[in-house]
Amino acid sequence: MRVKIVAGNWKMNNDKEETEALIEALKSKGKFTGVQVRIAPTSVNLVQAVNATKDTDIKVSAQNMHYSSSGAFTGEISANMLESIGVNSIILGHSERRAYFNETDADLEKKVAKAIQHDMEVIFCFGEELNDRKENTHFDVVEKQLKAALFSIQPSDWKYIVLAYEPVWAIGTGETASPEQVQEMHAFIRQLIENQFGKIVADNVSILYGGSVKPANAQEIFSKPDVDGGLIGGAALNADDFFAIIQSA
Ligand code: 13P
Repeated sequence: MRVKIVAGNWKMNNDKEETEALIEALKSKGKFTGVQVRIAPTSVNLVQAVNATKDTDIKVSAQNMHYSSSGAFTGEISANMLESIGVNSIILGHSERRAYFNETDADLEKKVAKAIQHDMEVIFCFGEELNDRKENTHFDVVEKQLKAALFSIQPSDWKYIVLAYEPVWAIGTGETASPEQVQEMHAFIRQLIENQFGKIVADNVSILYGGSVKPANAQEIFSKPDVDGGLIGGAALNADDFFAIIQSA
């Protein structure tokens, strides 16, 4: 069944004490109803986050991992390592990883396959740049990104996949895609999945929106029929704002 999810991508923010404080502040908000919550702290604070969220309904995601199991990949983290500390959710394909760390569609296809092998949830990010939208090629760009990384998986593997449409021009800019633009793209994405994998897969996959989601705009975006929650950056660093966004889902 399709679920509502609100995930906080903390990016390279929050040291050990700040991680602890933010998790405690979130925990103090009580239970979340009708929505699943994820937080994605930086890798050095994952163990701490897993421990601090035990016995809560907050699940911890990692922000990146390598597609190999182990080996000479200085600075990288493997799926086995994440699994061994109790992390079984991963954000892959974020536009910042694609832009600043040269992550390619081919890398992502391998990372997705590795995550699935490890029974890990994949929050798969994709989205067009401003120029693509100006040139009206945003649907083509999104289709290409999804096909390259996800169309080689089995229909049964879609239970691991959460999609996160994040137009690059809306990330950290304060500029949000309009609820109509988001719905239009999400409906397009769901149709693409249906064409390739069938209606049941398409109906069941959660499609999140990310890009300058705030308490003030969350409810309107999340009310659209093909929007199943959000992937939140800046506003996830504040417990009150994040909680307000969670409650909007
Ligand atoms: P902002 O919410 O800060 O725009 O970031 C969105 C994002 O990149 C989440 O992954």
